[in-house]
Amino acid sequence: MMLLLLPSYYTILLCIQHLMWDCPMPECATCLPASVHDAPGIGFDLTTSYGTSAARLHNGSTINLAVVQASSEYRNLMVRLANMRKPPETTIQENFRRWLNKKVGWPATPDVSIIADLIRQLHRESAKVLQASERIVVTAPLLPAVTQEDINDAIEYAGLQSWLTLPFPYPRRLSEARAAFGANGNGLCQTYKYLYQCEDEYEDMPFETVYFVSFSQYALYTTIGAYTSAFALDFSSERYLADFESGLDNQPPNDTAAYSEYWSHISNQLLDLPKQGNRPVTKLILGGENATHPKFLSVLTEAMNTLSGPFSQVTTTDNGYGDMTVEEPLFAAARGAALYVRWRQEAPFDCVERDECELERARMKEAVVTAAPGKAELR
Ligand SMILES: *[C@@H]1O[C@H](CO)[C@@H](O)[C@H](O)[C@H]1NC(C)=O
Ligand SMILES: *[C@@H]1O[C@H](CO)[C@@H](O)[C@H](O)[C@H]1NC(C)=O
Ligand SMILES: *[C@@H]1O[C@H](CO)[C@@H](O)[C@H](O)[C@H]1NC(C)=O
Repeated sequence: MMLLLLPSYYTILLCIQHLMWDCPMPECATCLPASVHDAPGIGFDLTTSYGTSAARLHNGSTINLAVVQASSEYRNLMVRLANMRKPPETTIQENFRRWLNKKVGWPATPDVSIIADLIRQLHRESAKVLQASERIVVTAPLLPAVTQEDINDAIEYAGLQSWLTLPFPYPRRLSEARAAFGANGNGLCQTYKYLYQCEDEYEDMPFETVYFVSFSQYALYTTIGAYTSAFALDFSSERYLADFESGLDNQPPNDTAAYSEYWSHISNQLLDLPKQGNRPVTKLILGGENATHPKFLSVLTEAMNTLSGPFSQVTTTDNGYGDMTVEEPLFAAARGAALYVRWRQEAPFDCVERDECELERARMKEAVVTAAPGKAELR
């Protein structure tokens, strides 16, 4: 009896404690409005030097929206954060200062303001292509000093909201690597509307060692992590390498000795994380604006072929960049984030919709169409 009085996420917590994955979710009292349920899901991907955005539509199509190159301020911030350790827990004074800044309409910290600028620009550019929703998911590089608190405050300061603020057991952050993993069709459950069924599906999925390789004009950034699901709770400690000296802009002319030194340095960097790990890489996911550069791809393929394990058996097929990826690397993480937004828009987090809700939404739409002909094409 007591249980019924508690908010339902306590029920979820209790269920997990008891490892009873098939605990029932309560039925929702109301249906989601079509304006949420059928709206495009908008995902942003912040990299170390630019941002991209994508939308996942109700009918299952995904479209790329915008690419925005970041300011030099932002790039410098990323270099600084990449070289910092994970910050200690914020003190009461710091929390108070952040809170006060937000209360008077300032960014929580100067770093937050720089990140918010890029988010705001992405939102503006995205809105030119598609009426963009205000509640989004933003992925960020998994650098220890890039805190989710800063990302969330930046989203808020840009005038938007995040879906990564739902209570346990929903994810509170989404790394570029995981988002791109999901965008490539990995670690996704069919029953995403039902928390526990979805968890059951993940239990039967293979554990992948995911090697994410992102290459841009300003950086080579790689992460390695092991997981089954793209959008589940993320406690993982993906290891990372961020090399701001080896971006494609630093490539020397091709007739110099420095040219081959540059590429052999890249090759060594690409082998760094896989060689440190004790499991062979099973999935290679590409990201970054210059990931499809032909020389980079050939260096990457050659490097991966020197490793043993399942990946070394992967052969190059004729889709341009081998078996490594299906999604365009530049937009992969944003497309993954957009997909996760669609999941959240379609499924309330703390209850399950009644079957009649689809019908109800269809009826409502029809009513709108009849009431205002010509004004209701937006689905
Ligand atoms: C989904 O809708 C978009 C825009 O209305 C359209 O371009 C696309 O072809 C549709 N996709 C499918 C699979 O129907
Ligand atoms: C080297 O660069 C020049 C000029 O950019 C180009 O014409 C040539 O094909 C390149 N050579 C190789 C081996 O890539
Ligand atoms: C790297 O990517 C950027 C952004 O897409 C592009 O403008 C640039 O031409 C690329 N560099 C090379 C050498 O391909």
